[in-house]
Amino acid sequence: MSTTQSDTNEIAIRTKNLNLWYGNFQALFDVNLEIKKGIITSMIGPSGCGKSTVLRSVDRINERLGYVRITGAIEVLDKNVYDADVELAQLRKQVGMVFQRPNPLPISIYDNVIFGHRIHRSPDEKVTSADEDGIVEAALKRVLLWDKVKDKLKRKATLDLSLEERQKLCIARLLPVKPAVLLMDEPCSALDPKGTAAVEELIWELRGEYSILLVTHNMAQARRASDECVFMLMGKVVEHTKTEDMFVTPARKETADYIEGRYG
Ligand SMILES: Nc1ncnc2c1ncn2[C@@H]1O[C@H](COP(=O)(O)OP(=O)(O)OP(=O)(O)O)[C@@H](O)[C@H]1O
Ligand SMILES: [Mg+2]
Repeated sequence: MSTTQSDTNEIAIRTKNLNLWYGNFQALFDVNLEIKKGIITSMIGPSGCGKSTVLRSVDRINERLGYVRITGAIEVLDKNVYDADVELAQLRKQVGMVFQRPNPLPISIYDNVIFGHRIHRSPDEKVTSADEDGIVEAALKRVLLWDKVKDKLKRKATLDLSLEERQKLCIARLLPVKPAVLLMDEPCSALDPKGTAAVEELIWELRGEYSILLVTHNMAQARRASDECVFMLMGKVVEHTKTEDMFVTPARKETADYIEGRYG
């Protein structure tokens, strides 16, 4: 396995010998990853190779399932998220997750965007409704949705937004809490080509400000929309390199086979 080496303080997510079992089934084998700050890293590999499992482990969503066991460490900004003193609320503030199916809450567009901020801000922080208006506007502008929804902010988000708009909203609602890391698990796979292009463009826009780990089945998307790329196969990291190098001169035969469409 080749991992890209960097200074400690440039790493957003680091996994150290991460192994994960669902019951008796081992899904991850000694996964060692260093996901850099401020860039987009895509994660590719055939169905079932463990991409979502890695993402769900970083966010500690997996532990809801009683039968999941993990060994090794996962650090977000150099802190092991499985340490006893880590609070889930704090972790969720640092790490935002976007899923395959856009899942806005069945409340207004406005409330979707401010929801996380209200939950995570400290009780003694003075936030006026004008402040909240500003936060909502800024987040919606950031995801290029403001012009579309500014006249219907109080409408239910689940009512008349297209899938593309819903996914943009799901990204917008993460921004007010200022997460360091955004995990995206096939965020465009439910969208049509136009929606995919729009959301991809938006993800690219967020580059630099956030550290983004983007799972995708879409090879063209990985190639267009990421700086570095991780290729996984059967629970292991096979290769992690600059995206350009991965697609032009893959180091491993398994990688070449996959990107040339010979399996998965
Ligand atoms: N909740 C679960 N309980 C048991 N096994 C699971 C669970 N979730 C995933 N697995 C298994 O773990 C392995 C990795 O699954 P995972 O969902 O991480 O793969 P993936 O790379 O995201 O696949 P896909 O591209 O289809 O989304 C698979 O064999 C899968 O069947
Ligand atoms: Mg998956």
